[in-house]
Amino acid sequence: MKKRSLRDLPPQALDGKRALVRVDFNVPLKNGKVTDDTRLRASLPTIKYLRDKGARVVLLSHLGRPKGGPDPQYSLKQIIPNLEKLLGAPVEFIADPAAGVAATRRLTRGGVALVENTRFWSGEEKNDPELARTFAALGDLYVNDAFGSAHRAHASTEAVARLLKPAVAGFLMEQELQFLGQLLGNPKPPFIAVLGGAKISGKIDVIRSLLPRVDELLIGGAMACTFLAAMGLEVGSSLVEPDRIALAKELLATSGKKLILPRGAVIAPSLERANESKSVPADGIPAGWAVFDIDTTTQHDYRARLLRGKTIFWNGPMGVFETPPFDAGTRAVATALVDAGKKGAVTVVGGGDSVAAVAGMEDRLTHVSTGGGASLEFLEGKELPGVAALENA
Ligand code: 3PG
Repeated sequence: MKKRSLRDLPPQALDGKRALVRVDFNVPLKNGKVTDDTRLRASLPTIKYLRDKGARVVLLSHLGRPKGGPDPQYSLKQIIPNLEKLLGAPVEFIADPAAGVAATRRLTRGGVALVENTRFWSGEEKNDPELARTFAALGDLYVNDAFGSAHRAHASTEAVARLLKPAVAGFLMEQELQFLGQLLGNPKPPFIAVLGGAKISGKIDVIRSLLPRVDELLIGGAMACTFLAAMGLEVGSSLVEPDRIALAKELLATSGKKLILPRGAVIAPSLERANESKSVPADGIPAGWAVFDIDTTTQHDYRARLLRGKTIFWNGPMGVFETPPFDAGTRAVATALVDAGKKGAVTVVGGGDSVAAVAGMEDRLTHVSTGGGASLEFLEGKELPGVAALENA
């Protein structure tokens, strides 16, 4: 169901009005400093549009997973310098939403305020209507631009959208739903998906959802080892999920020829002994050695397959890419996506680690999702509560 967009609202619905905007400013911090501002930048088109239309912008977000009330290390106050710089405007901080109404009314047209971390109040994760009412009092309309949090039924993402109308999708939300929706709806064939990461368990529903839709599903990361073990191959001391071997067998048996596994691997006795790493074929992993990346043969194989694709989705690294030399496989897939894009393919990268792997390449990919869990749940075919609560177009 298509959702009503911020774009659909007439000028009088915005001019001078307080727009309560749920953003996903759950950004990584180190010693109180933002280390990756992707999510802040991704929210700028919506914020700028609202300011240009004369709205007074009140931003709501969570940050991290604080437990048991306010905790300075999770305070959104820390991100204000970054936000002010990106907007080129001052941002007022509202420390307590329950006492924040006057501050929102004082904002000038085009003014911006940021409310403290929504998770500092216990009702947030319980989707508490009382807390939602407190949030709703801070705006005259609601815009949800927090795709990354849309899989959470929380007071600031779900309950508030049922109280404060109009309740519409922001531009980032719209863009995410459009590109990810295309993968489920009418992907141009051949549709190739690449899934990596450590565990099958977290990806099983997305594998099941994508298999009937894709032409090929390329597997990488430690997850591949569970499939190799299911084929009866020796996987040494690699990370394997023994309780998922039966599932991997079932998937191999039912997927036709769609599931593509690595032909070989880069192995080492341990991550610390990376200097002893070597490449072996998938059926030549010795006992006592562990898989840390796909090998060059697999890189070439996956590249050739990806270059034939017209629609590509990628989620999850091919190896332990934070630890060179085990980053080579992940980098090769990133480059193959960019090159497939040059040949006209739609290239979509799902959130999480794969986003870090394509840092600096975003403008050469069709879409890099800001949602980790949210993009996977969407592709599993689940309805996201934060989206469902918005008005239909
Ligand atoms: C994310 O980073 O995936 C979102 O901001 C949601 O965060 P959460 O998993 O803590 O709900």
